[in-house]
Amino acid sequence: MKALDIVLFGGSGDLSLRKLMPSLYFLQRDGKLPEGSRVTAVSRGEMTSEVFRALVIEKLKLYLGSEYQASAAEEFVAGIDYMALDIASGSAWGELKAHLAPSEVRDIIYYMAVPPGLFGPICKQLHLNSLNPPSSRLVVEKPLGEDEESAEAVNALLSTGFAEEQIYRIDHYLGKEAIQNLLALRFSNRLIGAVWNQEHIESVQITVAETVGLEGRAAYLDHAGVLRDMVQNHLMQILCCLAMETPLSLAADDIRDAKVRVVKSLRPITSTNIEEHVVRAQYGAGAGMPSYLQELQGSRDAAGTGETYAALKVMVDNDRWHNVPFYLRTGKRLKERFAEVIVKFRPTPRNLFGVPASNQITIELQPDMKISLDMFMKQLLSDGRDLISHRQSADLAAGSGSRIPDAYEKLLGDVMQGNQAYFVRHDEIIASWRWIDGIRKAWREAELPMHSYAAGSMGPQASKAWFDEVPFVEELKKAS
Ligand code: BG6
Repeated sequence: MKALDIVLFGGSGDLSLRKLMPSLYFLQRDGKLPEGSRVTAVSRGEMTSEVFRALVIEKLKLYLGSEYQASAAEEFVAGIDYMALDIASGSAWGELKAHLAPSEVRDIIYYMAVPPGLFGPICKQLHLNSLNPPSSRLVVEKPLGEDEESAEAVNALLSTGFAEEQIYRIDHYLGKEAIQNLLALRFSNRLIGAVWNQEHIESVQITVAETVGLEGRAAYLDHAGVLRDMVQNHLMQILCCLAMETPLSLAADDIRDAKVRVVKSLRPITSTNIEEHVVRAQYGAGAGMPSYLQELQGSRDAAGTGETYAALKVMVDNDRWHNVPFYLRTGKRLKERFAEVIVKFRPTPRNLFGVPASNQITIELQPDMKISLDMFMKQLLSDGRDLISHRQSADLAAGSGSRIPDAYEKLLGDVMQGNQAYFVRHDEIIASWRWIDGIRKAWREAELPMHSYAAGSMGPQASKAWFDEVPFVEELKKAS
């Protein structure tokens, strides 16, 4: 692979120091960064490269813990330069141009670790200064707009000088091992593929639960709410991986074509059906933690109207998923941090054993990465009518003994390889915003209630029934 010039706009910011530098450190340490590559951190503040390198070392020690190796870190930072750049000033761009090698020598990757307000000016300057040869790549991440209209506007800015094949839109959930494994699970197991449809599946639950609250992002989170911060991107990507048809191949556009088709098949949520399909809520005080509104006190730019929890009953209107609800939920300040998918199968057609035996597949996405199948078996030495539910689990990380790369590391590796399979295409973003915009319009029109849940709980009562665990056989028996 050709050597790379990796330019991090916002290079001294939090995302760069917390996620990108550690990812690049590992890629270099593990020999995945092509020989002769360089990293240039670009930010506004004046600083020498030497001071910046010391800062990177300090942060690597902090974030890598026991994975930190002094010699590897020294070697890594030796390839980092810092450049102070005032985006508005033409002369500064000339300096950057002089610093970057001609494209025959190195390919350039630009990473926009900056607020979206700077996407436009940066793209414009890269274009004006001819710093966007066809081999260059541009990495951006959310917020990529806050509705369909603004997402189109962001895209118009990015496409000043960059073609779709050069743009890598990050949804870091797509870099998670367990989420990439959903495609392997579905499309390489005939046993699963054969029953992955409405004939056999009763419902699917997708949960991304967080324990964190506002984390210093009050104004943004209150404005966006979890519907825009989490559902429009991360939960919808999980939904797409679960619901998509078999892609023609693993080529980026084949995967993305299949995902877009799912988003376009989602049943619109309107003011007439929203009450049955959406629950939104904010956390109140609980488990020794203050309420959302208490936490917001003193944040001037927050009106206190954002939802910190959303649950949705989503219908995918195609033959495969006819009448199968996908229940999505995500929330802040919940009881535990975990992400998982539960696929509930329909009961056996007849009930020979007196209990409705429904299998279940549980896919733990984080922090563990496990796939479990609940199967029914005869209870040993019983008269043959007593069943027990057995959970068989496979751990994705079992036995590897390897470090699991962070999502950013995986995705940066893909950018280097020029593989867009796990990056979001423009039309996917637009289709998902269109569907989310419809929900936001409906909840304004229908004045959807804002429920409350205690911090440290699993969300409001109003959506509880959608997420009940499948009871075990003994309980089913008692109930029948
Ligand atoms: C981000 C959201 O995209 O994802 C945050 O903006 C959220 O609000 C985070 O906390 C969750 O990511 P992860 O990888 O910790 O599940």
